[in-house]
Amino acid sequence: MQVISTVRELNETVKQHKLNNKKVGLVPTMGALHKGHKSLMECARKECDIVVVSVFVNPTQFGPNEDYDKYPRVFDKDIELCESAGVDIIFHPEPEEMYPDFKKGGTLKENLQVKENSYIIKVPEKYTNRLCGKTRPGHFDGVCTIVSKLFAIVKPDVAYFGQKDIQQLIIIKNMCKSMNSDIKIQGCPIVREESGLALSSRNSYLSEVEKVKASTIFKVLSKAVMLFKNGNNNKKDVFEESLKLLDKDINIEYLEVCDCNTLDYCEKIRHNSFIAIAAKVGNVRLIDNVIIG
Ligand code: PAJ
Repeated sequence: MQVISTVRELNETVKQHKLNNKKVGLVPTMGALHKGHKSLMECARKECDIVVVSVFVNPTQFGPNEDYDKYPRVFDKDIELCESAGVDIIFHPEPEEMYPDFKKGGTLKENLQVKENSYIIKVPEKYTNRLCGKTRPGHFDGVCTIVSKLFAIVKPDVAYFGQKDIQQLIIIKNMCKSMNSDIKIQGCPIVREESGLALSSRNSYLSEVEKVKASTIFKVLSKAVMLFKNGNNNKKDVFEESLKLLDKDINIEYLEVCDCNTLDYCEKIRHNSFIAIAAKVGNVRLIDNVIIG
């Protein structure tokens, strides 16, 4: 496995593989890797000749009051996980490599200002004025910017994203369509703990007690699916009943039903929609969803 930290070396290495007709898969991540990330790598390993994983905490997708500074950075552990998944290349650049205007050693405020000085992808409002976009202004612009940069450098045949961040997945699919990109965007199912809690790098902020409380989030979603399967598609009724299972210390930010392709809000729960939730356990914000297949 190769660890590469410069754009130029990655570009040249992948170019060589492509000249040899290798199928290249890319798994973008921000590190603090867990089994959820690993499932994306395994999916890429099965389908591609060369698997590239990027590990980069992307400043442009964090808001000024978010956890950019304290986001877990455990690169040595990440290397081990990538190795165990049979990854070929890890791309682990410094912020100034991805954003030439990033000030090395700058303050958090200066670091986050990189957005003012860089070319940034603007995601249409119809995708960002809902769900996580409501409380994270500019977040998806930052995500699409870094993902486009990675696409431009690696030019993968396939890129792998988790259903865990379903709004991100749908926005990236729509971005590729809109930009005439032929990169295939492959969504992968959510990996959960036995309790049902969706794996997330931010779970490391939770105490054991909070984890138990957080596992009721998936209980709510599962109950909603069960009620729908039993014939109730009225979201008000279904949510009212399901929310009885939520731990009383959890604060809901949103609970919504949206279309799987367009992100449009749905009047009723129906096929090709998903139910998404964001909730806070203490100060930790968690998201989860289920697709109504
Ligand atoms: P990160 O949160 O590190 O997630 C990287 C990828 O892993 C995403 O596609 C995410 O949906 C997927 N993932 C996370 N938890 C998962 C789980 N429990 N099961 C399945 N997949 C899971 O998402 C980002 O980073 C960033 O926004 C990024 C796309 C890398 C751009 O910076």
